[in-house]
This record gives sequence, C-alpha cells and structure tokens, in this order.
Amino acid sequence: MLFKKNTLPDTEGRLRSVGIIMDGNGRWAKRRGLPRLAGHAAGAARVEEVLTTLRELGVHHVTLYAFSTENWKRPKEEVDGIMDLVYKYLDEVVQDKIVSDGHFSVRFAGDISVLPEKLRKKCEEIEALGKNREYICYVALNYGGRDEIVRAANRAIADGVTVLDEKTLSKYTYTAESPDPDLLIRTGGDMRISNFLLWQCAYSELYFTKTLWPDFDRKQVITAVESFLTRKRRFGGLNKEDT
Ligand code: FPP
Repeated sequence: MLFKKNTLPDTEGRLRSVGIIMDGNGRWAKRRGLPRLAGHAAGAARVEEVLTTLRELGVHHVTLYAFSTENWKRPKEEVDGIMDLVYKYLDEVVQDKIVSDGHFSVRFAGDISVLPEKLRKKCEEIEALGKNREYICYVALNYGGRDEIVRAANRAIADGVTVLDEKTLSKYTYTAESPDPDLLIRTGGDMRISNFLLWQCAYSELYFTKTLWPDFDRKQVITAVESFLTRKRRFGGLNKEDT
C-alpha cells in the first residue's frame, strides 16, 4: 500500500488503540553531548504532536510507557529528574492543553500511590478533570506488566471472584477502559516488550523503529501506521484468502 508522505492514511476504523514504548531519550542526549535529562525533556516535548497525529488518524486509545517499575534502578538523580519532568509536563501541557482542549481523558496505569506526593496529587487532579471524553490516553507510571497481572488477580480475589476468566481479569487491569492495543510501537531500536502491557498485547501488531523517541515526529507516526495497515491480522485463525 502506498500513501503520499504526510497525508493521513485512512485507517478505516482498524486502528483504535496504540501502545508506545518511548525509548532512546538517553542516547538522543548523549549524541548531542547533553545530560540524559535533556533527552527526557526533548522526549516529553514530542508527546503532544504524537497524540494529536494519532487522534487525527482515528486512534481513540493511546497508552504511553513513561516510567516502569524497573526504572527505579536508575541513579537517584535521573529518577528525581524524570519525576520533576513528568510533573512539569503534566501540569503545563497535559492539564493545560491536552485535557483542557476537551478531546482527551488522561488516566494513569501503574501504582501511583508510591510516587512523590506532589506528582500523585497532580495525577489525581488530571484524572478528575477530563472524564468521559472521546479519546483516552493512559500514561503508564510506575507500571510493570507482570505486576499489573498479579494485582488484577489479587483485586479480583479481594472482590470475591473464585474463578477467573480472561474477560474478568481484563476488567481488573489498569487499562480496563480501553481496548487492547492494535499496534505496539517501540522507538530506540531495541526489539523487546520490556514488561509493557503483557496481558493486553497478546495479539498486537509490533512496530520497532531505530528512531529515537525525541525524533519520533508526525511523519514517523504516519510511517508506523502505514506499516500497520499492511498487516494481515488473523488472531490465531485464518482469513478468507488463506483458505
Ligand atoms: C526511555 O528512554 C524513556 C524514559 C524512561 C522516560 C520517558 C519519559 C518521558 C518521555 C516523559 C513523558 C511524560 C509524560 C507525562 C507522557 P531511555 O532513558 O531508556 O533512553 P536510552 O535507552 O537511550 O538510554
């Protein structure tokens, strides 16, 4: 399938939900002789453009991997810097622009109870602000896929569920309000899932690009979506043309 560059392809309702692993901020900074935090700041600055492009492409659900349960292992200075940056970005861009524009509900996936108090309160404020919007963006913060599955099972048990099935467990995941990602994008060149949406990505199409997250612009989003549109999804079954 060929599309003119920079014109938006018609996703024909096939692409409702996208997950993104925003990797490569550190390397982006290193290549420029800048501190790693400058890379995270440049990465944060890309988020709005990517969300807007996906919205224009008809994607109603986006989940962004901002901080994993494993990212605490990074030097304290970097962890503190990311927390400050996420706060600043949530306050200045997500709350004042993305949510206030009226398109997006923003939710948080992950255990936000252990985040710095100021950041946790900001997350709660943002969640309360934009409810029932047409588009949902989950920000995965202190998120781990295995942790999420264990928590979901424990929450179900606490609710008195004695036999778990897939539908029930899905209801207890952080992203219960969104369909599973049709497409999972990872920037930065590594080809792994890194404990992101393990339950939800069972049948997601995977798109890996060497582009570092701060360079992942509107054009790159369109290229990823074009790749998705060429995929034949079978969900373990057969399509008519295969029989
Ligand atoms: C991975 O790059 C990126 C992170 C751990 C942080 C991502 C956070 C943001 C972009 C802020 C976004 C904020 C919101 C609220 C959406 P890396 O440091 O692993 O890069 P490297 O692999 O090049 O070292």
